[in-house]
Amino acid sequence: MNNPDLTVAPDPRTAGTPTPPAPLYLRRAGTALLIDFSTGEPALLHFGADLGPGLPDLALLRDPVPHSALDTPVTLGLIPQASSGWRGRPGLRGHRNGRAFSARLRLESVTADAPEDAGSAVVTQTDPDAGITVRTELRLNDGGLLQLRHSLANDGVDPYTVEELAAVLPVGRAATEILDLTGRWCRESHPQRLPLHQGTWVRSGRHGRTGHDSSLLLAAGTSGFGYRHGQVWAVHLGWSGNHESFVDTAADGRTVIGAAELLGSAEITLAPGSRYETPWLFAAYSAAGLDGISEAFYAWFRGRPHHPGAVSGKPRPVVLNVWEAVYFDHRLPALLELAESAAGLGVERYVLDDGWFRGRRNDTAGLGDWYVDEELWPGGLAPLIDAVNGHGMEFGLWVEPEMVNEDSDLARAHPDWIAGPAPRPEAGTGGAGGRLPERWRHQQVLDLVNPEAWQYIYDRLDALLSEHRIGYLKWDQNRDLTEMGHAGRPSVHAQTQAVYRLLDALRSAHPGVEVESCSSGGARVDLGILERTDRIWASDCNDALERQTVQRWTGMVVPPELVGSHIGPTTSHTTARTHDLSFRAITALFGHFGLEWDVRRLDPAERGELAAAIGLFKEYRPLLHSGRMVRADEPDPALRLHGVVSHDGGEALYALVCVATSFAEIPGRVCLPGLDPDVRYRLEALYPAPDDRRAFKHALPPAWLDGGIEASGRFLAASGLPMPVLNPEHGLLLGVRRVGA
Ligand code: GLA
Repeated sequence: MNNPDLTVAPDPRTAGTPTPPAPLYLRRAGTALLIDFSTGEPALLHFGADLGPGLPDLALLRDPVPHSALDTPVTLGLIPQASSGWRGRPGLRGHRNGRAFSARLRLESVTADAPEDAGSAVVTQTDPDAGITVRTELRLNDGGLLQLRHSLANDGVDPYTVEELAAVLPVGRAATEILDLTGRWCRESHPQRLPLHQGTWVRSGRHGRTGHDSSLLLAAGTSGFGYRHGQVWAVHLGWSGNHESFVDTAADGRTVIGAAELLGSAEITLAPGSRYETPWLFAAYSAAGLDGISEAFYAWFRGRPHHPGAVSGKPRPVVLNVWEAVYFDHRLPALLELAESAAGLGVERYVLDDGWFRGRRNDTAGLGDWYVDEELWPGGLAPLIDAVNGHGMEFGLWVEPEMVNEDSDLARAHPDWIAGPAPRPEAGTGGAGGRLPERWRHQQVLDLVNPEAWQYIYDRLDALLSEHRIGYLKWDQNRDLTEMGHAGRPSVHAQTQAVYRLLDALRSAHPGVEVESCSSGGARVDLGILERTDRIWASDCNDALERQTVQRWTGMVVPPELVGSHIGPTTSHTTARTHDLSFRAITALFGHFGLEWDVRRLDPAERGELAAAIGLFKEYRPLLHSGRMVRADEPDPALRLHGVVSHDGGEALYALVCVATSFAEIPGRVCLPGLDPDVRYRLEALYPAPDDRRAFKHALPPAWLDGGIEASGRFLAASGLPMPVLNPEHGLLLGVRRVGA
C-alpha cells in the first residue's frame, strides 16, 4: 500500500544493502508489536493496540529530521543505541577495557515461528567491530502478554564488560501519566502516580532481592487511566536481584518504557565466547485500564503447565500457619492441639514456621543448621507430621536456606561461606580480613555462588524432604543483600542465579513439593521467583485494612491463587488494629486463603463463624482461582469494590469494602462491572448476615439486602445497587449467579 504521492529520499545508512526482511508483526489478544528492518537495524515501531491485518509500507513511516539534529531520522532500535542517534537511555552499555564502548548493532537474522501469524520470534544483531552478537527472544502469548529478553555473546578475543543491557518498548504518545508501586515491610505494593514529563523516571532496586519497595508494575497511560478505562502500557522485570525499571521521554518526544538488571562494577565481564542473558521483561498493553493488564498476566500464569489452582485442577488447600500462634515457642503438645483444632475447622495444610531447627530459640541463632533440633524435638518431627497427616492435612515446613547466623555451627565451621565485600579466611587458618556486611535481623547471607556451600544447602534440604512427608516449603529470605560479594567481586547476579538453581534442582528431585516465596513478607514478589515457586507471601501484615491495598495491587500482576492471604488474630500483631472476623475473612478470601491465628482460643460462636468462612472459601475457590478480576473505578475514596467473574459470565463474587468513613451519608448505588450485560442474574448478600450491627449502620437497610435481587448484568453495571451503610473497616460479600444456573 505505498502512497504514490510521497517520495522518500534514500536513507544513506541502507543504500546498497540487500533487501531487508519483511517487518515482524506479532498480534495476539488485541495487542501488537511491530518491528521494522528497513534501515538494517530492528526498529521498534509500535507496541500497543492491534493495528489489524495488513500494514502500510513501513519504510515510509520514518520520522522527519528536525533542524540542529543528526542528518538522518533517529531509529528507536530494539536495543536503542547512540550509533543510530538515540540520545535517551542507551539499551546497551558495555566495553572492552574502556574500548568498543559504542556498539553499532545491525540485523543479522530474524526468524519467526509462523511467518503469517507469528507469536514468537528471534532477532539477532551483530557488531563485528565491537565483537558482540545480541540475540533477542520475543514471545507474544495468547493472552496478550509480551516477553522479551536479550542474550549478548562476546565474539572477541578479550573480555567484554556488560554494564547494562536493557529491554525497552515504545509507549504511545497518548500516555501522560505514570503509575508504579512502592512499599516497605508490612506495607508492600502501594501505588504512586505522577505526570509523565520529559526526562527519565527510574525505579532502582539495590536490595539484592526484589525489595519491599519494588515496582511490581510500572505503567504509563492516558490521562486519569483507571481500573477499567484508559490506555495503559505496563512492564515487569522477572528478576529477584538488583534491577531498574524506567520510563524515558526523550527530547524528540518519544517515550519508552523498560527495565534492566542493575549490575555491580564489572559484575558481568564476559570471557571470549561466553554470554550474558537478561531476565525476561514482561509487558502488556490494555485499551481498557489496569484490569486488562491483569488479564494478560493472569492468562500467562494460568497457561503454565505446572500452575497450581482451579485451572489445573489442583485446588489450593486452606492453610494454617502457626507463626502468629506460637512464634518461636515450639512445644509439641500445643502444636498438636493446634493441628486438631485447625483440622476441625476445615484446614487442609498445616505449616510449621520458624523455630524447629538446631539452636533456633529466637532470631539470633541457628540459621544454617538445618537439622531438627534434638532438644526441642526429641522424637523428631514425625509425631507432629503423623498427627497432621492423621487429621487429613498436608504438612509444610519453614526454611530460610540462603541465610546464616554467625551464631551457628555452620558459620563456625565455614566462616568463609559468609558473603561479603572481601574473601573471608577459612576456619582454623588464623587468617584475618574479610569484613562482614552489617547484620540484618542478626543474620548474614550464605555465599551460594560457592559450590560447596550450595551443595551443603541442597543436601540438607534434600535430606529433610526425603526423610519427612513434607508437601510444602515456606521458603523465606529475610534480609537485603548489602555488599554482596563472592571472591571479592560483586555477586548479586550470580547469587540470584544460584538460588534459582537451588530451587530448580530441589523441585526436580521432589516434584510434588510446593514452595512459597516469602521474603520478610513481600520483598521477593516477581516472575523470576514465581517461575519456580507456587505462591508468594504478600506481606507480614495480616491487618485486613492494610491487606486490602497490598492484595489489590499485588493482584495487578499475580493472580489470587498465588497470593498467600491469611486471617490473622482479632487484633493485628503488626498494627494493633482490631477487626471483626467478617472483614478479615472477606479480605483473605480473595487470595490463597488461610489462617495465622491461635485457633485453639476461639469461643464457640467465633469458631462457628470461622468454619463457615472456610466453607465459603471452599465453595468459591474454583471461581476465585480461575476467573477474571474486576475492580470498579469507585468514585467514593472510602469504598472499594472488587470481584472475580467467571470467564463464561455465569457467576461472580464481589466484595464491597469500606476503608474509611465516607463523606456521604449513604453509599448510593454502587455499580458491579464485568458481568454479561445480556444475562439475568440473582445477587445475594453472603456475609456478614444482614442483621450484623457491627458491620452495618443504617436505620433501614436497602430492600434487597435480606433475600437478594434479580437483575441483568447491564443493570448491575450501569445503574448499580443501593448498598447498605457499612461501618469503616468492614466489608460485604456478594454472590452473583446466572438465573437458572
Ligand atoms: C519472616 C516471615 C514471617 C515468619 C518469620 C519467621 O518475617 O515473613 O512470615 O515466617 O520470618 O522468622
